[in-house]
Amino acid sequence: MTTNHLAFLFFTFVVGFVLFSALLLLLRKRPWCSCHVCEAYLSSSWAAEFDNLCDWYAHLLRESPTGTIHIHVLGNTVTANPANVEYMLRTRFDNFPKGKPFSALLGDLLGQGIFNVDGDAWRFQRKMASLALGSVAVRSYAFGIVSDEIRRCLLPLLSSVADRGDGVVDLQDVFRKFAFDTICKISFGLDRGCLELSMPMSEFAAAFDTASRLSARRGTATAPVVWKLKRLLNVGSERELKRAIRMINMLAEEVIRQRRKQGFASSHDLLSRFMGSVEEEDKYLRDIVISFLLAGRDAVASGLTSFFLLLSRHEDVAAAMRDEIASVTKGDGDDVVSYERLKEMHYVHAAIYESMRLFPPVQFDSKFCLEDDVLPDGTFVSRNTRVTYHPYAMGRMESIWGPDWGEFKPERWLRGGVFTPESLFKYPVFQAGQRVCLGKELAMVEMKTVIVSMVTKFDFKVLQGGRTIKFVPGLTATISGGVPARVTRCVSRRLP
Ligand code: HEM
Repeated sequence: MTTNHLAFLFFTFVVGFVLFSALLLLLRKRPWCSCHVCEAYLSSSWAAEFDNLCDWYAHLLRESPTGTIHIHVLGNTVTANPANVEYMLRTRFDNFPKGKPFSALLGDLLGQGIFNVDGDAWRFQRKMASLALGSVAVRSYAFGIVSDEIRRCLLPLLSSVADRGDGVVDLQDVFRKFAFDTICKISFGLDRGCLELSMPMSEFAAAFDTASRLSARRGTATAPVVWKLKRLLNVGSERELKRAIRMINMLAEEVIRQRRKQGFASSHDLLSRFMGSVEEEDKYLRDIVISFLLAGRDAVASGLTSFFLLLSRHEDVAAAMRDEIASVTKGDGDDVVSYERLKEMHYVHAAIYESMRLFPPVQFDSKFCLEDDVLPDGTFVSRNTRVTYHPYAMGRMESIWGPDWGEFKPERWLRGGVFTPESLFKYPVFQAGQRVCLGKELAMVEMKTVIVSMVTKFDFKVLQGGRTIKFVPGLTATISGGVPARVTRCVSRRLP
């Protein structure tokens, strides 16, 4: 067969594929919808009034009497109604899995990792991961690693920034590097120094950012056929994504190779526990490695970044935190406080929760409706469509938090000075129900330890702290342009 024939066959196949997919799409969705929401979505006219898509959604959800809206062209029902969230994540959990369309979006990056699977594959990984993350030995191992990273890397870095000319550093960048190193050690028991990598770690971190951004972009397309075709032809953003994933795979392979080389029988890290319990193929271990890297790096770094942005705007909160820290530690001068003392710091805990109410690291999360269903607020959801709950919008609902929802007030989480959590269905920052985040406690301890160590020693003034915040599209919230801040040493520590 000549090259011309082959080209013709390929062309016919591609055209047929496009037409067939377009037909399926038309039947399933309403890409022609001309309601004002869909028109604003398709023309991006919402951007004239709102800085971010999530701000526009939050506005629409606040205006909606049920706290639920439809984006018809995406075939997506978006809700900020706690009763609906409980229904999806707990009551009718089986009818709202991740689903195949969603798994397809993230499949190239996450493979069969815990974030991207349902059914038995999910149940098995969840059991393994919760045994590991729930164990006292692993928790104290993780706390030791976090403390060590703070003493050896974070505080010396901030000291050198404070002592040099301008004293400015991008906090977002600092936290991403810190969280990446920490999670590599907690999850795989490996220091970046012991990995024999062909490229600097910063390039692998950049590949993660690219892969996360481009995978998330697939989900915003009204016609999935476009990215599928680009993937088939290996062009544009799909080609870039493929390259980024190839790099990530190299990192994962090296991690697994080193772990095997160093032995895993007596190690506490999460990968060793998986390797010790099951005879698994490298492909499966690779998917586990990627899931943990993403879980542990991006969300923690995002939570810390927005915390310091808010703190810089609220000196009263910084002062109240320092008072609490001083009264618990009695100014003992330790660089890192003990696990026991951290638990006594209710105000600091409340401040972290409050910051993630306004800036949740995972701004929205989608499920797939298997069979026709009716949500508690009366919204009908047809089978094979997407339902999204939206923690970013939920943190900004007057119906949930009252008229002062826009204020940063850690006190709203305290009863008689004691931290008192809200229902996770009102605050699904860590998700809720059967698939609630397994790293919640670990993440809180990590963030709290970092924050306490940093505010005890330094003051942070975010440059142009009052500017509007723009997010970079991605799986977790990242602030466009970073968060440059001036770091100075604290002049005096207050004592009660
Ligand atoms: C501030 C930090 C964190 C936040 C806000 C957060 C939030 C979330 C959210 C929203 C989910 C649900 C995602 C989905 O189903 O699509 C999730 C799941 C998960 N998280 Fe986290 N996470 C954080 C840190 C961590 C850390 C440090 C780890 C572990 C090292 C971790 C491990 C997991 C795992 C294993 C799941 C999957 C649970 C399942 O599907 O059954 N997370 N997290």
